[in-house]
Amino acid sequence: MKPPAREEGPQARWIARAWERLLDCAHGAGDLATVPLDGLGPEQQRLFATYRDFLAPSPDGLRVVAHLGQSLDGRIATERGHSTFITGREDFVHMHRLRALADAVLVGAGTVAYDDPLLTVRLVPGPSPLRVVFDPDRRLAADRRLFRDPEPPTLLLCRADRQDCARLGTAEVLGLPAQGGVLEPRTVLAALRARGIRRLFVEGGGMTVSRFLAAGCLDALHLCVAPLIIGSGRAALVLPAIGRMEEALRLAPEVIRLGEDWLFYCRLRRRTLPARQAQEIEMADARPPKPGLDRAQPLLLP
Ligand SMILES: NC(=O)c1ccc[n+]([C@@H]2O[C@H](COP(=O)([O-])OP(=O)(O)OC[C@H]3O[C@@H](n4cnc5c(N)ncnc54)[C@H](OP(=O)(O)O)[C@@H]3O)[C@@H](O)[C@H]2O)c1
Repeated sequence: MKPPAREEGPQARWIARAWERLLDCAHGAGDLATVPLDGLGPEQQRLFATYRDFLAPSPDGLRVVAHLGQSLDGRIATERGHSTFITGREDFVHMHRLRALADAVLVGAGTVAYDDPLLTVRLVPGPSPLRVVFDPDRRLAADRRLFRDPEPPTLLLCRADRQDCARLGTAEVLGLPAQGGVLEPRTVLAALRARGIRRLFVEGGGMTVSRFLAAGCLDALHLCVAPLIIGSGRAALVLPAIGRMEEALRLAPEVIRLGEDWLFYCRLRRRTLPARQAQEIEMADARPPKPGLDRAQPLLLP
């Protein structure tokens, strides 16, 4: 993938101005209503509206969005875990913007094992968020870059019964209650909110995003589809099996052109967390996992 080309001309100035205001809304005292989207082209307007959604207030003070870059046949990596690069530079800029707006970026153990990512913001102006690694069984070794790089901080989440130390390299290790060996996404969200995280970006991989989706823990899913057929490899989304098409999650996405790729922006209805006071109870009293996706839960916006 070539490095992102610098946008030039009046459109680039509008983008820079809108981006600066969004950053001020995310990390300063900016007012979302004053973010200037008028000068942007139609695709950029729709893209920037997704950032505005991410910054909008929510009943429980949290926003959670996930992103996957997939091929036409729904793969995010080869069988051997190679995934650079499926989508193009515009999607990478988009992901870096989501990182910069977030308080924390979370990835699963598989992604850290295969990609050894840094998860910092490099392609756009903006701060790098807290890095969160979801490794319930503590199968990652300390040689990963996230555990050697001191800034920004890294938090490793695992099952409480697997926490055998307070730190892994430069990362803090935090054990969380698991039921039946499963660390539920809602428990993760409650723990992160208790640490002051308001906006979480779930950056992959497929298994982690699928678990957050199945648990009703996403406000939005950004699925970027590249015109590419891999034909085998790791799946983007895998949810519990259904018997009939009526049970499928039918979406009404916003479709946004991102260079050669198509971004499907799907707004979802997240199951919000209980009020802050009830948080400790919720974490101590985590319910056993449901056998499959609870499809009675209204996951989608009408
Ligand atoms: N194209 C993209 O957008 C994109 C983005 C990120 C990564 N990737 C690629 O995706 C691949 C990795 O994805 P992946 O789906 O295989 O793995 P992943 O989602 O990164 O991590 C999955 C692992 O995390 C743990 N885990 C996640 N959620 C859990 C839960 N709720 N409860 C218990 N454990 C949980 C499990 O570890 P245990 O096995 O220890 O239980 C599981 O094996 C890599 O090849 C990477 O390159 C692609």
